[in-house]
Amino acid sequence: MIMNKEQSALNEAMKPQGEYVVRYDVLIPNTFGIEARARCYVEYSSAEALLALITQGIVTSSCLHIGEGSNLLFVGDYAGTILHSHIMSIELLHEDAQRVVVRVGAGVKWDDFVAYAVSREWYGTENLSLIPGEVGAAAVQNIGAYGVEVKDLIQCVETINLQGEKRTYSADACAYGYRESLFKRPAMKQTFVTHVTFALSKEKQFKLHYGALRQHLPSEETQITLSTVRSAIINIRNAKLPDPRELGNAGSFFMNPVVERQQFEALLANYPDMPHYAQSDGRVKIPAGWLIDQCGWKGKAIGPAAVHDQQALVLVNRGGATGADILALSDAVRDSVLKRFGVEIWPEVNVI
Ligand code: EPU
Repeated sequence: MIMNKEQSALNEAMKPQGEYVVRYDVLIPNTFGIEARARCYVEYSSAEALLALITQGIVTSSCLHIGEGSNLLFVGDYAGTILHSHIMSIELLHEDAQRVVVRVGAGVKWDDFVAYAVSREWYGTENLSLIPGEVGAAAVQNIGAYGVEVKDLIQCVETINLQGEKRTYSADACAYGYRESLFKRPAMKQTFVTHVTFALSKEKQFKLHYGALRQHLPSEETQITLSTVRSAIINIRNAKLPDPRELGNAGSFFMNPVVERQQFEALLANYPDMPHYAQSDGRVKIPAGWLIDQCGWKGKAIGPAAVHDQQALVLVNRGGATGADILALSDAVRDSVLKRFGVEIWPEVNVI
């Protein structure tokens, strides 16, 4: 691609920093396997490099910050600049007999960090094995699986905003909820996570109450170790969730809806087998996968976009799907769930 004057000037301006790379007209990485291009793609490898990009006006309010692209659906090309963290450090800040405190760069692949923690016998991350994405995005999204949410392990989150201000948020200040955080609010769109600090236990403690998990573990209690738990989680996930390298997808496409108790009771009267989880506020969470499955969507396709045949919560790209194809399927699925159950479901995936 031919660079214009402004672009060559930008490239020149960046050279001395050496801690970031700017590329033009690039395919945006995303696990859905959707072909979408960004006008400009900037990757930085330290908080200082990000500050320099902000000071030089290369990072502006029209930038989109992404992780591994494992929770995004692009419905078109991106005319602005895409930012990506390549901060890859893992630092041990504190260690005593009971626990470690470890500071991790936002660009570290989440599952690499889990493997690292498991290999050092640190407890806490193992149930979150194999979740796609990077550490920064994990803290923004509050990833969760098999009875654990990442918020339970986070001590603080370091950020830099578009004004170049560094700020550290304690876990309490992050306003975490189900796939929710302060960082997902529109006002925080231009606040970028640079590092996440985790407190992990050195004392044996597992969370094994999630139904399917027990069945995949050795029956002998002494054989339950960090690595057997990690392997069990990996096996369960591999059996249900398609590998994005083989079949494009973004994990759970929809969030599990939470309904008022009255609506839940009316639904349960009609569908006594409906799985459900009571919430602390009296409302009830219903698995979107079950609702979609009941509507007969499992394995069904509209063009190249399909509902996964093993797990109705996952939409897949069977090859050559556009973002619009996936979105059309999503709309059809949402529509039929609303018509049959009177329940609205919303994408968990961010539509760009
Ligand atoms: N179900 C069906 N049919 C389906 C799928 C599910 O009937 O096609 C039923 C299951 O039998 C079960 C219930 O729905 O009774 C819940 O299903 P499942 O445990 O498979 O999924 P989930 O609990 O809704 C959540 C997370 C997953 C996480 C799993 C494991 C959301 C949106 N999804 O799924 O997260 O791995 O729990 O803890 O909260 C992700 O976020 O990308 C993701 C994969």
